[in-house]
Amino acid sequence: MANNSKIFPELKNDRLLKAALGEKVDKVPVWVMRQAGRYLPEFQEIRAKNDFFTVCRTPELACEVTLQPLRRYPHLDAGIIFSDILVIPQALGMTVEMHSGVGPVFPKPLCSPNEIEYLKEEGAVERLKYVGDAITLTRYKIEGKVPLIGFSGAPFTLMGYMIEGGGSKSMAKTKEWLQNYSSDVHHLLSLLARVIIDYLVMQVESGAQLLQVFESSAEHLTREQFDEFSAPYVREIRQEVKRKLKEKNIFPVPMTIFAKGAGHSLDIQAKLGYNVIGLDWTIDPKEARKIVGEDITLQGNLDPQDLYKSPEEITKLTKDMVQRFGKHRYIANLGHGITPQTPLESMAAFTQAVHDAI
Ligand code: CP3
Repeated sequence: MANNSKIFPELKNDRLLKAALGEKVDKVPVWVMRQAGRYLPEFQEIRAKNDFFTVCRTPELACEVTLQPLRRYPHLDAGIIFSDILVIPQALGMTVEMHSGVGPVFPKPLCSPNEIEYLKEEGAVERLKYVGDAITLTRYKIEGKVPLIGFSGAPFTLMGYMIEGGGSKSMAKTKEWLQNYSSDVHHLLSLLARVIIDYLVMQVESGAQLLQVFESSAEHLTREQFDEFSAPYVREIRQEVKRKLKEKNIFPVPMTIFAKGAGHSLDIQAKLGYNVIGLDWTIDPKEARKIVGEDITLQGNLDPQDLYKSPEEITKLTKDMVQRFGKHRYIANLGHGITPQTPLESMAAFTQAVHDAI
């Protein structure tokens, strides 16, 4: 089976992929959620001159920003393509703006279920071709030094942003929809899942070597709600991406599910067919291992706030974390994205400590 029809530079560091597949590694692989971001002055410089979504839509800029953390931190074992989960609502016809100091804003969120019919499913993935172009360019420019991760938001998380019109502490409107319009909600989640499946397949065809699905808003769901509104769609995404890639004669890449705040549903997550489960910092590594069993790789989970401690403390906390997870079937990361004010040397201490541990 072909890896991909495009011929990219040969991969020299395959620790991440090996760990995802449960193979032996020389060192624990490490990457950091939001590693391409505002804590980097070189990112800020590009952002000062370009709107956020212009960076996403311009392959040369997205590629450059993806490579920035890799240049600065030689211990990173992966790149993640620079983009955002909210490019999918945009491709469905919704306007999304990134307001500095606020975050994403939808001037016209979904106000009632009858607005679902205005979403433009047809052609959505074609409108996201710029993400594929950025991935392909980055696969050449990364020169096989480390693998490139592609990603998408999961249906529930995307739906939440589309209904709330941005980030929300309470998710009150979304919860109202779950309560009062559950069949419309399932209709919308199915629509999103179909688009996400083809979007992720397109990312692999373009050169993505591992895919991460972000269910970042899972923290708002009870275990029962997670089982109803998240798990079935996340499972479908995994199964269908695998099936469609096989159909196209492309080797199916490993996939990660990161459902932030869904520590109560690790047993459910373990049955969704993913190679890797991402953990937030509230979950104890040994407890998680007991629940998910031996056949799944765990990823995580240092508290991003720990990166405000001294490099010595970060080194110690990181080494302790790696000891607790163990060397096998483990990918080191933070328990959520790195925050904008994180000192540059913290990232150096964290990534180095992972490779020095065990
Ligand atoms: O990880 C990476 O380095 C790749 C790029 C990436 C971004 N967003 C860039 C970004 C990834 C993987 C995302 C995913 C994303 N986007 C998620 C899931 C992960 C998570 O953090 O839970 C979510 C929920 C979003 C939506 C989003 N985008 C929010 C809520 C915000 C504002 C809050 C924030 O952290 O800034 C964004 C903006 C965003 N996405 C920035 C970056 C670098 C900062 C915006 C800027 O440059 O002005």
